[in-house]
Amino acid sequence: MAKKDLDKLAVVPTHVAIIMDGNGRWALEKGLPRVAGHRAGTENLREVIEASVEFGIKYLTIYAFSTENWKRPQDEIQGLMHIFRTMLDRELKNLHENGVQLRHFGRLEGIDNALKKKVLEAIDLTKDNQTLILNIAFNYGGRDEIIQAVKGILADGHTPDEVTEDLISEYLYSASCPDPDLIIRTSGEYRCSNFLIWQGAYSEWYFTPTYWPDFGREDLYQALAVYSQRDRRYGKIKTEKGS
Ligand code: IPE
Ligand code: IPE
Ligand code: MG
Repeated sequence: MAKKDLDKLAVVPTHVAIIMDGNGRWALEKGLPRVAGHRAGTENLREVIEASVEFGIKYLTIYAFSTENWKRPQDEIQGLMHIFRTMLDRELKNLHENGVQLRHFGRLEGIDNALKKKVLEAIDLTKDNQTLILNIAFNYGGRDEIIQAVKGILADGHTPDEVTEDLISEYLYSASCPDPDLIIRTSGEYRCSNFLIWQGAYSEWYFTPTYWPDFGREDLYQALAVYSQRDRRYGKIKTEKGS
């Protein structure tokens, strides 16, 4: 993409979050097993991460596995866990060299030990990188996240008067991360599926029928171009751009 195209983006979102959906349908439409779609969905992810850096996005959050996805057949879950492990092995060095800091949103309990160890090592290795913060929402659920936050607030002895939006935000997995400006969902589904339900209160949404494995750099650019035309009002009335 030429530099002039990038210049056309009036505003670039600081934080983009993506619900990477449609892997199963992508595969089934090609006569392949669903797990082939999950594997394909890791190939374009590298391109999307690189494009995020190129476009100047500072935080990218990707929904990789929800607390509800445990309800899927065992063989699909096993396939997914295997893909996550091999992806971390394959991509970590490259991500680290490109200044990507990995963070995890979700629970580590319930994840097998080998994968848990790899996740923790990846987080530690990349903790000082600043080019792009990549939050991986894995074994993540927005409601579960709020329950964890409430438990933490109570355990720390906060009084009712101390409970504010800021305090709750500090107890979420996303503490220290700005709210998502733009949430993208692929595959033509129009729902949030328990993703960033607190943080997404004022996010702009972008839906595309494209299945996740087919979503690449141009698609991300298109989403950013649409975002840059949005008027975010936060409950106020329309104002002149920039005011
Ligand atoms: C998203 O693709 C990946 C995960 C939920 C892990 P799906 O597996 O949900 O694909 P579809 O929606 O069934 O096509
Ligand atoms: C959301 O997709 C979860 C991820 C993309 C990881 P799902 O495919 O699980 O969502 P539903 O079931 O269609 O709402
Ligand atoms: Mg799905």
